[in-house]
Amino acid sequence: MKNILITGGAGFIGSHLVRLLVRKYPDSLIVNLDKLTYAGNLLNLADIEKSPNYRFVKGDIVDEKLVFSLFKEYDIDTVVHLAAESHVDRSIANPMEFVHTNVTGTVNLLNAARHQWKNGSESNRFYHISTDEVYGSLGETGLFTEKTPYDPRSPYSASKASSDHFVRAYFHTYGMPVILSNCSNNYGPNQFPEKLIPLFINNIINKKPLPVYGKGENVRDWLYVIDHARAIDTILTKGRSGETYNIGGHNEWKNIDLIRLLCSIMDKKLGRPVGTSESLISFVKDRAGHDMRYAIDAGKVKMELGWEPSVSFEQGLEKTVDWYLSNEEWLRQVTSGNYLDYYREQYEER
Ligand code: NAD
Ligand code: DAU
Repeated sequence: MKNILITGGAGFIGSHLVRLLVRKYPDSLIVNLDKLTYAGNLLNLADIEKSPNYRFVKGDIVDEKLVFSLFKEYDIDTVVHLAAESHVDRSIANPMEFVHTNVTGTVNLLNAARHQWKNGSESNRFYHISTDEVYGSLGETGLFTEKTPYDPRSPYSASKASSDHFVRAYFHTYGMPVILSNCSNNYGPNQFPEKLIPLFINNIINKKPLPVYGKGENVRDWLYVIDHARAIDTILTKGRSGETYNIGGHNEWKNIDLIRLLCSIMDKKLGRPVGTSESLISFVKDRAGHDMRYAIDAGKVKMELGWEPSVSFEQGLEKTVDWYLSNEEWLRQVTSGNYLDYYREQYEER
């Protein structure tokens, strides 16, 4: 690896990955291309922004001229593609934005890589970061494996599935050296407070209601974000071209149970009487098309590449809460302005 383009590196997962790679590979150049949408934040990278092997470029992955010129200017040989619209509720409200960024943006990057690499050699790699949501929704038993047929059910997961198909099509059609991974729900520091855990932490701090969709019985498989970044590094350096790897925490939680655990941690940390945070729970109208259960079989990445999660959920959740409580300025900055309009539109009518 010499010149690595990371897209979406100012977002939640991207910023943890950029930090890991910048520190671990001082001889590689890490170029971070990010549009800085509402979800991108350069504060996430303040500690590494002056590193000699790091460059930030503000721009859109859909911008053909910009993307082609970046490949040339930095002689990019490796891509790790994370930039995306990532929130299911926003995709229900505005699907077209998801097609634009997640599908057209991905194909634009593939075209630029193909142009620069002339179909690619062993030293090139186009690594596409995807989600377990492309596999659809599980019943009470079973796990998603790499062979589970695609069955996306939200505009977000349909756009991610479409981008996955394009990436594989470039492998088969043009011999592009691609690799994919599909990960379960991430949590940890720097996650935008539209997603369940940071949204509820922020609401508990501010004594606002906790809007639980439906009966809170949906199940997600949670993974600490730094473990995801470690998995991406492992797959990038050791994974086989053309392969897909599922990544997950083997850590399934019913939403309501997770929320109760979070509430008890928050009461302790904030010095509030037991039960204070739980009293904020409010059951609201369910998400349209709400997938019931996700759970990943991460056996392949463990067997072939030796990766497994290192942080337990209890540890990870506590670290996450501590981070939000000691980064009030970050939280205040991202929950002002447009966030208030988003919150009103999403939750006032529920
Ligand atoms: P995020 O929403 O926190 O960050 C997305 C980043 O992409 C932001 O920095 C944003 O500014 C940037 N971006 C958006 N549109 C862009 C565009 N057109 N051009 C350039 N940059 C753009 O997302 P995240 O949660 O960090 O997810 C990152 C990737 O991982 C996504 O592809 C997502 O589908 C995937 N993923 C996320 C999870 C999860 O639990 N968060 C799980 C599995 C997979
Ligand atoms: O599984 C991987 C996916 O996980 C990623 O691909 C997505 O980018 C990421 O957003 C996440 O999707 P989810 O829809 O599972 O995450 P979210 O945090 O939005 O919701 C988690 C669960 O909590 C889900 O069952 C819906 C529920 N929920 C969510 C919110 C925001 C609530 O009950 N209330 C809420 O206010």
